[in-house]
Amino acid sequence: MKKVVLAYSGGLDTSCAVRWLKEQGCAVICFIADLGQGEDFQALEQRALTAGASKVYVKDLKEEFVQDFVLPVLKAGAIYEGKYLLATALGRPLIARYLVEIAHKEKAHAVAHGCTGKGNDQVRFEVTVGILDPKLEIIAPVREWEFKSREEEIEYAHMYNIPIDVSKKKPYSVDRNLWGISIEAGVLENLEQEPPEDAYLITKSPTQISTYPKYIEVYFEKGMPKKIDGRVYKLKDLINHLNEIGGLYGVGRSDLVENRLVGIKSREIYEAPAATILHVAHKELESLVLDRELAHFKEIISLKYAELVYYGLWYSPLKEALDSFVHSTQKHVTGTIKLKLFKGNCIPVGRKSAHSLYKKELSTYGKEDKFDQKLAEGFIKIWGMPYQR
Ligand code: ARG
Repeated sequence: MKKVVLAYSGGLDTSCAVRWLKEQGCAVICFIADLGQGEDFQALEQRALTAGASKVYVKDLKEEFVQDFVLPVLKAGAIYEGKYLLATALGRPLIARYLVEIAHKEKAHAVAHGCTGKGNDQVRFEVTVGILDPKLEIIAPVREWEFKSREEEIEYAHMYNIPIDVSKKKPYSVDRNLWGISIEAGVLENLEQEPPEDAYLITKSPTQISTYPKYIEVYFEKGMPKKIDGRVYKLKDLINHLNEIGGLYGVGRSDLVENRLVGIKSREIYEAPAATILHVAHKELESLVLDRELAHFKEIISLKYAELVYYGLWYSPLKEALDSFVHSTQKHVTGTIKLKLFKGNCIPVGRKSAHSLYKKELSTYGKEDKFDQKLAEGFIKIWGMPYQR
């Protein structure tokens, strides 16, 4: 019998996909990746088996996720269209890598995912699998099957005793991991409407927060966040901790009409308190320690890096080359940034680094000024010379 490894989330689509793939004559091995989405993984495993899986793998990939995916993106300063911190986009290549690994181990002929034909995630999964093993077949049941609506799918699930969670009405489509939450569909499709409070899962409404700000200090070593308020954390704990404090102060919400790779514009809202705090702090530290040319050039790289991640090109030669560039920019990114969290804002208010390029004796307007203003005259003449006719 042919075997297929399915990326299983426990939702309606992937649960129906287990049964559907069996009907196509495959034995279905489910793979559940723990990227910090905070599910009951035992219950998910049981659900997959009841739906008809012949075997289930559950893997805790949180450490790998933060070290090999989140950290490079933070160092790169990669943010898509100025607002999306790429949580979902970053999880996909890692999940795809394990799909391929398990497929090899199980001698499966194919891998499968539960993405629709309209989104970015199908691209990320399939491009990654194609790069890692072009011989593996890829099956996307949701693009193929005959269900016209969610109701039809639910009916199918009932018919075959596929365990699904229809007790709580799910008004949104949510994808969650340690780096953030992506929320779409339902009333969010009405662009004129403010997202209802119940759409947000981990951030408090900025209007309901105490009028007192919270100050925190983040310490980085060569671009990697190491301490909060002087206390050392492992990266994944540090992210968890910042998600908690940031969430309490309403930090990290964004509301974006984004350009999907498949050409569709879609409205999605995001919650990413830790990612927001870390990007703000990291960028602030870079302002202090990178020279002007490097800082400006790196912004171009950040933009390109974010596109590559969004487009599913994590394992591409350009992304690898950009990683080397980014790595070389981080050697002096060591120091501490003090931030003020206040009513949904994250504002850098203090900075300190042994590699600081700030020279008070040059910038000061006080009497300790060491800048020879007479030199400016010659500099300006030569600088502007090519433009005089
Ligand atoms: N728009 C985001 C991306 O392409 C998230 C997609 C998944 N969103 C969701 N709510 N399931 O990366």
